[in-house]
Amino acid sequence: MKGEPFRIKMVEPIRRIPAEERARRLDEAGLNVFLLRSEDVYVDLLTDSGTGAMSDRQWAALMTGDEAYAGSRSFHTLREAVESITGYPYVLPTHQGRGAERVVFPEIIARPGQYVLGNIHFDTTRAHIELAGGRAVDLPTPEAADTSSPFPFKGNMDVEALRAFIDEHGAGSVAAIVLTVTCNSAGGLPVSLENARAVAAVAREHGILLLLDAARYAENAYLVREWDPGQSGRSPREIARDFFDLADGCLMSAKKDGLVNIGGFVAVRDEELYLRLAPRVVAFEGFLTYGGMNGRDMAALAVGLQEALEVEYLEQRIRQVRRLGERLRAEGVPIQYPVGGHAVFVDAGRMLPHIPPEEFPGAALAAELYLEGGVRAVEVGTLMMGRDPETGVERRAPVEFLRLAVPRRTYTDNHLDDVAEALVNVQRRAPRVRGLRLTYEPKVLRHFLARFEWAAER
Ligand code: F0G
Repeated sequence: MKGEPFRIKMVEPIRRIPAEERARRLDEAGLNVFLLRSEDVYVDLLTDSGTGAMSDRQWAALMTGDEAYAGSRSFHTLREAVESITGYPYVLPTHQGRGAERVVFPEIIARPGQYVLGNIHFDTTRAHIELAGGRAVDLPTPEAADTSSPFPFKGNMDVEALRAFIDEHGAGSVAAIVLTVTCNSAGGLPVSLENARAVAAVAREHGILLLLDAARYAENAYLVREWDPGQSGRSPREIARDFFDLADGCLMSAKKDGLVNIGGFVAVRDEELYLRLAPRVVAFEGFLTYGGMNGRDMAALAVGLQEALEVEYLEQRIRQVRRLGERLRAEGVPIQYPVGGHAVFVDAGRMLPHIPPEEFPGAALAAELYLEGGVRAVEVGTLMMGRDPETGVERRAPVEFLRLAVPRRTYTDNHLDDVAEALVNVQRRAPRVRGLRLTYEPKVLRHFLARFEWAAER
């Protein structure tokens, strides 16, 4: 069966503005696609976060939302849904994933300079660790940076490096380990169950808190089921539960595998940790039974969490993203391979080898892809890595990626064929593509607000 496991009840018109207009709009945006208006974008693959379509059941649930300030029925529905999936009884709602990060990291980082180790931290996670005085360290499996290696579990953490780090710095210097599933920055590729077990064993042995960044945990479970022969007969829900069972809690951006447009939560197993985190939710997000969401959002999320674990949904989701990747690969566009859950990651460094990292090949490719086809995608590379907060030195990304993130249940394969065509056209003139030079750069999270000019042709 090739068809989508849904039919479409409501549509939103989109259009592609003419090429000259796109050039004008991009100039006005300082060549930064984050600063474009979405109505000037044809296919928007900037992110899969909060950009998906809700189901009729979710829209129906919205109407049942209980907007009580305290004790909302919708909160209890959400809490039960989260516990049924994760096994964690204590659920703290937040407005999105970074809200969860802001609640958690300042509380668990006991003193400045403590480390938070991970496979590869997402950029907001890194920012919140650093804002809390901690140090974010990535210990990815070496295959993560080798886009031509067929190894599927490029989201894995390097367990030997983890052990070596703890031996060198001492367990007391590590505030937590955060395993991001799937690993966004490694191409949306999964963490294997075996790797999660090994990481959990190290954490347990040293008494270190282990948290999952569960933003795309359902996609991770589906890919494990597909690529780990030992797991093939099991449901995504069962596999996901094994991951949650290994950890002490999770941070969730529900805008991904919660299938909602806004929302998030922290869920933990231990009451003592919950009681430490709870006042921070009240202070920064909202009272414990809404924490940055309204009753409607929580009701829709409770349904979305269940839908995102359905095999038919995940099959179509993964197949659509993979199809885009296969089309690009067939045309010789270098991509992270195999293709992961939520996005195709183009190896912009390999596609534009004449552009050095300090001229941001991924961001230059993003600008060109918009000019070519009105398609918006995002750099995941040296621009996003930013600068070391202590030395101000630019951090080099291991790979200069352009990420084509596919929103859930939103675009058709025809849209993605247009994306592939535009990217292949850019590839044909790759040697003439110029790099970007920063003309404005904020101190943290610079990629969102930076402005550029074209660098000289090389
Ligand atoms: N963790 C991961 C792995 C993420 O991918 C994101 C967001 C967050 C945490 C933060 O969650 O956006 O709800 O505050 N990723 C989006 C993206 C923005 O485009 O990949 P948030």
